Amino acid sequence: RLRIKAAILGFGTVGSSVARILGDLKPEGVELVSIFNRDVERKRVDWVPSQVRWTSDVKEILASDVDVVIELVGGLEPAGTWVREALTAGKSVITANKKLIAQDGVALDRLARSKGASLLYGAAVAGGIPVIPGLNQGLAGEKVERIEGILNGTCNFILSKMEQGAEFAPVLAEAQALGYAEADPTEDVAGYDARAKLVILSRIALRADLAIEEIDCRPITPVAAIDFDYAKDLGCTIRQISRAELRNGKVLATVAPMLVPKGSPLAWSRGTENMVLAGGKYGGDVVFSGHGAGGHPTAVAVVSDLLAIAHGSRAVDLPSQKTPVSADFLLRHYIR
Ligand code: NDP
Ligand code: HSE
Repeated sequence: RLRIKAAILGFGTVGSSVARILGDLKPEGVELVSIFNRDVERKRVDWVPSQVRWTSDVKEILASDVDVVIELVGGLEPAGTWVREALTAGKSVITANKKLIAQDGVALDRLARSKGASLLYGAAVAGGIPVIPGLNQGLAGEKVERIEGILNGTCNFILSKMEQGAEFAPVLAEAQALGYAEADPTEDVAGYDARAKLVILSRIALRADLAIEEIDCRPITPVAAIDFDYAKDLGCTIRQISRAELRNGKVLATVAPMLVPKGSPLAWSRGTENMVLAGGKYGGDVVFSGHGAGGHPTAVAVVSDLLAIAHGSRAVDLPSQKTPVSADFLLRHYIR
């Protein structure tokens, strides 16, 4: 197996979780060699292995023999320039940056291929839920005609707490403190973050490259406490829903707060849960769900991409010996 040297750009919520998980799992064939952040001395933590180099000079990483650059800075620039420079140098890139991938993903993918490098962004949509690998691999044999669901954890956190009587502003502040919101939370509450994710999913699932600004996009900010009362009278609740559907060669695409019937699985999602339904022509609906925001869930997707680069499609080793089966009656008949 190859030995892959990786560097993290951006030691914030997701970057630090990636380092944590790599430290815990110690995956074979992968070595974290450097961490970049502005003003990096503030960021040093003692649980990162001492051989990892901390730097505030991104050029040092881009000019080094690092194989994989993990971009977790966010935003279009300077992250976009660094991603392009890394790919141009033949390094593979993993990113959680939906804004960048929605805007430039097709060109960046072309650049990566021309250099024999990989560009993976499983964390860019729905955090820890393997929607992108699921669509890319598991549903490659399907004709997906519709994508719909909950793509922003911050909005879901806010709306599901407002449903229980909480106020918008303090819940948004809580989502920020917990590391769920974007650096500028307008990205979340105006629907721009979900819209970027819908563009990415439409490319992979519907094979449609949508112009981001043409997507109908409504903020959740006008949703008030009374709206939940009206929704309840109709047997519904309110969630931010993203939808893209192929119709006569065009794609009908929307991001907006919508009424969702209480019986729908979309209405059951709470907190940072995301849910994505892929409507297939042959196999019917496939649903992905789990945590769509937060450091650890997102880092799982990043580390999975890293292992895919290091080990290919067989990233998980099968056990080499049998594991004892517990005979405890109560535990066997208890479902969490
Ligand atoms: P954070 O703001 O927590 O982390 C970003 C890090 O990058 C910070 O440490 C920041 O330093 C550093 N940084 C920002 N700008 C620069 C710069 N110009 N030069 C050097 N360092 C810089 O963001 P997240 O970890 O939450 O998000 C990272 C990426 O992951 C984003 O693209 C985001 O959209 C995406 N993402 C986030 C999820 C989440 O739940 N948080 C889920 C899925 C994707 P400083 O501390 O100085 O600001
Ligand atoms: N701010 C984003 C969200 C992070 O709340 O969904 C995950 O992409």
